[in-house]
Amino acid sequence: MNPIYPDLKNKHILITGGSNGIGEALTRAFAQQAAAITILDKDDRKGLAIAAECEQYPCKFNVYPVDLTDTEALTATIAQIRKEQPVVNVLVNNAGYDPRYELLEMSEQQWNDLFQLNVVHYFITCRELLPDLISAGGGSIIMTSSHVVWIAKANMIAYNATKAAIVGMVRGLAEAVGKHHIRVNAIAPGWIMTERQLQQWVTPEAKHKTVHELQCLPLELTPQELVGTYLFLASDTSRAITRQTIVVDAGYAHS
Ligand SMILES: NC(=O)c1ccc[n+]([C@@H]2O[C@H](COP(=O)([O-])OP(=O)(O)OC[C@H]3O[C@@H](n4cnc5c(N)ncnc54)[C@H](O)[C@@H]3O)[C@@H](O)[C@H]2O)c1
Repeated sequence: MNPIYPDLKNKHILITGGSNGIGEALTRAFAQQAAAITILDKDDRKGLAIAAECEQYPCKFNVYPVDLTDTEALTATIAQIRKEQPVVNVLVNNAGYDPRYELLEMSEQQWNDLFQLNVVHYFITCRELLPDLISAGGGSIIMTSSHVVWIAKANMIAYNATKAAIVGMVRGLAEAVGKHHIRVNAIAPGWIMTERQLQQWVTPEAKHKTVHELQCLPLELTPQELVGTYLFLASDTSRAITRQTIVVDAGYAHS
């Protein structure tokens, strides 16, 4: 059972990539808070299915299908949301992808495409929504980074760079908008056993090594393990916390 933060009731939470994996767990957790949730995801069918399942909670749901790498489509979708929905109070920039490439075999196009999803859409949502957060008198922005920034994998150099960019963006943005009572933080998850990770990358040996040798805590991390930290950073309970990156990886990364 997730903690309930009464101040999140009726708050408008926008989540990118809210249909699957970590985003799905967040969507469900914000539904339990009786919040109004907007999902931006190319997988709108799954988003709508989650919305139907969450009818048991007194929450509101909107799912906007959009390819987050298409800046024109993303900007147009946000303009539509600004017309149709109340002001966004909490922005969760979450969608991302983690391909494995050897640097010498990686094309410039692949590098740029990864930045387009993992970094550029985070910037666009902030640029388009910040004026509303400012006029509303505050809000919380949470961005998903990764503990890979600290542990550094040889075949994930581009991914590392995108996730380190998020840590830098959070610091700069927190400086810029703190005077408007807008907090900006990042969460850097460890290896989270989402459906896609299990299908694409997880082997029994790699999982065993991570859980029992590399992490301090022998926990198999699921999206649910992250939910509490996102809710906390979204809620006014963390009103004095900004400019931070919280690593949630059972003690794998050493700073
Ligand atoms: N799973 C992990 O182990 C892990 C670890 C550290 C960080 N992260 C980060 O957490 C975030 C979420 O990852 P996840 O594992 O839940 O991923 P996931 O693939 O399970 O879910 C990603 C969601 O984003 C959506 N999406 C992807 N590309 C899109 C696009 N171009 N346009 C619209 N929607 C798009 C997908 O449809 C999906 O619903 C990412 O930023 C990822 O880098 C994940």
